[in-house]
Amino acid sequence: MYFRDAAPAALFAALLAAPQLASAFYLPGVAPTSYKPGDRVPLNVNSIKPVAALQDYRLHSVISYDYYHPAFQFCQPKDGPEYVSESLGSILFGDRIMTSPFELYMGKNETCKPLCKATYPEKMREFVIERIEQGYSLNWLVDGLPAGQKIQDDLTGTTFYSPGFMLGGFLGEDIEDEEIFFNNHYEIWIEYHEVSGDPNQLRVVGVVVQPGSKDYPGEADCGDNHGPVLFKSGEKDQEVQFSYSVYWKKSDTAWATRWDKYLHVFDPKIHWFWLIDTAIIVVILVLTVMSILVRTLKKDITRYNRLDQINLDDLSGTSALEDGVQEDSGWKLVHGDVFRTPSRPLLLSVLLGNGAQLFVMTGTTIVFALLGFLSPSNRGSLGTIMILLYTLLGFVGGYASARVYKALQGEQWKLNIALTPLLVPGIVFSAFFLLDIFLWAKGSSGAVPFTTMLVIIGIWFVISIPLSVAGSWLGFRSRQIEAPVRTNQIPRQIPPCTTYLKPIPSMLIVGLLPFGAIFVELYFIMSSIWFSRIYYMFGFLFLCYGLMIVVCAAVTVLMTYFLLCSENYNWQWRSFLAAGTSGVYIFLNCLLYLVTKVKLATMAGTVLYIGYSALISFLFFILAGSIGYFASWWFVRKIYSSIKID
Ligand SMILES: *[C@@H]1O[C@H](CO)[C@@H](O)[C@H](O)[C@H]1NC(C)=O
Repeated sequence: MYFRDAAPAALFAALLAAPQLASAFYLPGVAPTSYKPGDRVPLNVNSIKPVAALQDYRLHSVISYDYYHPAFQFCQPKDGPEYVSESLGSILFGDRIMTSPFELYMGKNETCKPLCKATYPEKMREFVIERIEQGYSLNWLVDGLPAGQKIQDDLTGTTFYSPGFMLGGFLGEDIEDEEIFFNNHYEIWIEYHEVSGDPNQLRVVGVVVQPGSKDYPGEADCGDNHGPVLFKSGEKDQEVQFSYSVYWKKSDTAWATRWDKYLHVFDPKIHWFWLIDTAIIVVILVLTVMSILVRTLKKDITRYNRLDQINLDDLSGTSALEDGVQEDSGWKLVHGDVFRTPSRPLLLSVLLGNGAQLFVMTGTTIVFALLGFLSPSNRGSLGTIMILLYTLLGFVGGYASARVYKALQGEQWKLNIALTPLLVPGIVFSAFFLLDIFLWAKGSSGAVPFTTMLVIIGIWFVISIPLSVAGSWLGFRSRQIEAPVRTNQIPRQIPPCTTYLKPIPSMLIVGLLPFGAIFVELYFIMSSIWFSRIYYMFGFLFLCYGLMIVVCAAVTVLMTYFLLCSENYNWQWRSFLAAGTSGVYIFLNCLLYLVTKVKLATMAGTVLYIGYSALISFLFFILAGSIGYFASWWFVRKIYSSIKID
């Protein structure tokens, strides 16, 4: 339905069906509310968030504010605003939903209802002007549906609702003219649907707000003869009268599909072409490489084993000598060292345990999303499910970490049990906490409240850590994973290797490919994070995630093979770091995005942007590194168990 313009992609769409599925149905997240005519429909307000700035369509700020931040002076309900209860994920992702003074009655058109009057001294005006220039938008929710602006996508010729509407704007051609107006009148257009023709069962299926600016000399009358409210510098206080109108329109849109208008694919063609391109390139690459590798390996293995046979049978000396010369190269030579414990086995096992935990968490979350459990109507469900899964999967983390550590013949098992649930989550939490202090200092509503922090710490200590310890205990109890070949007492000398197998070049090459597989999707995810667009293309995400795993595993295995062929047996850390380098690429990509799409005015904004980017990249580093390591581990065990060693 969203991809009808991408005709060439239709075949793929039919084949893959997944992206279609993701957008075509969502399981009911929240039960629909039916209203009778005249029932009050709640209008709640969410935090005021920055979107693209007016003059250059770039993001100029990452700090959001409470709707009732004192400088904005928006009208409050009679008894003061109250918080509407929200899920944990919703709070973490920056929602701060509160009640409002707007009175909406189902089906009742009302023109020009006056709201409060507010006085803006110079300081506040300056603050608001700056926010207007930075393109801040108001976010309202009517019956859980975001109030949007109707936007025409010139590329596809379709209209869609973009959540949020502008705080103000500027007159004339250039923002430098300083003719900044402030929106004080709201025309609220609500679409409602009659459930099976019953006039007493009405549901809200669309909300559009047309903000306007009217400078009333006296009472609010909403006439068209008023000029806009211009915020000027100067010491005189300026008074603003707020007003709103409500119009109800009947609509054919059913409640179940009311979100469709909000879920708009920007550039669907580019999206599809990129995905298909990457998929084809990746599949061809991986298949070619794998078939070559398998053939080479088979040849290697038969040669090694035949050689063994010849040596055993002690046939003619010459041929044995001939083959013996050949045997002096290749991965078989390092059989006595490949399973030697690497340096810092404790750190490696802890990182791998956390990587396994992240891997299962991200995979499960994407599958949940694909099945429609995380519909946008269920605000914050994505964040909530991620935290919940991460907590519960502490068990997987502990288990994986313990088993790896045992296989690496680690001895400080108590330290392993303790560090697995503490090290990585600890780093993430500390970073998060520091960034939160930054937000808090800026008076932003994006700062996670202290109580929520306590809840997270509580969940971590009460559920995640015990589960992780239980997993570790089980891991240490289970049988040790034996290496297929014996390790020699004395480590072999590692000969110098070619340039591209040196640590840094190999990391740069290997890390680039998994990054390439998710690069496009990353762009969409980032614009949804920073430009507050709803992300829902979980079908794409699922495919990209799958591609990323395949590519990551394949290139790392390939690198491991070359490494072993050059008689370097330090594959453990090398495979982890090389695959993990894709996290570094993600970070670089974030920086590139910062330079091209974002133009943060303040130091704090830049610090926050870089901080969050680094946090996400760090987690991705662990995730990709673990995929690389486990793939290489599987590969190394496979090849060394298929040759005979005397
Ligand atoms: C409310 O106004 C809209 C737009 O003017 C109109 O289509 C609709 O019929 C009106 N509804 C009522 C109940 O008057």
